[in-house]
Amino acid sequence: MNIILIGFMGAGKTTAGTALAEKLGFCFLDTDHLIEQQSGMKVRELFEHYGEEYFRSKETECLRDLLSKGGAHVISVGGGLPLREENHSLLKELGLVVFLSIRKNTVLDRLKGDKTRPLLKGADVEAKVDELLRYRNPIYSQAADLVVETDGKSIRTIVKEIEEKLNEIIGD
Ligand code: S3P
Repeated sequence: MNIILIGFMGAGKTTAGTALAEKLGFCFLDTDHLIEQQSGMKVRELFEHYGEEYFRSKETECLRDLLSKGGAHVISVGGGLPLREENHSLLKELGLVVFLSIRKNTVLDRLKGDKTRPLLKGADVEAKVDELLRYRNPIYSQAADLVVETDGKSIRTIVKEIEEKLNEIIGD
């Protein structure tokens, strides 16, 4: 079985995912990282040169590749990956989906000065984050088997909560 972490930018998917994988003895994988490795370009460059739709297709391809790898991975996926309808069934096939939720102010705090997220470039980042969160949160909830709130929590606490909720679903 795989465990997949979804949620908005800054929710801690990569950091919590790495720690969770270590605790469970699973391998950690990250779709942004896999796409960068495979294309030889940074996510930011892929957006700049080919546009968002191209990047979204790469995400779907990446999910299909992951399905052929089998289980025992913790997989962190880019914040926009669950938005594509076809990715929902791929995510479900891949394993248990955990939504790491985050509030607007926490995103703004955690991603202050970040230059790697093309969607948060430009003026009025606060309004952008607000708009994206309102649109995306119901989609994340729909795609997920369980939700863990991350605001004000350390990575250690987040990982502990994920483990507890996973145990409730699959048993110890
Ligand atoms: C995106 C999130 C990013 C990355 C890209 C687009 C999004 O990943 O895939 O910049 O649409 O939310 P993280 O969620 O890991 O930051």
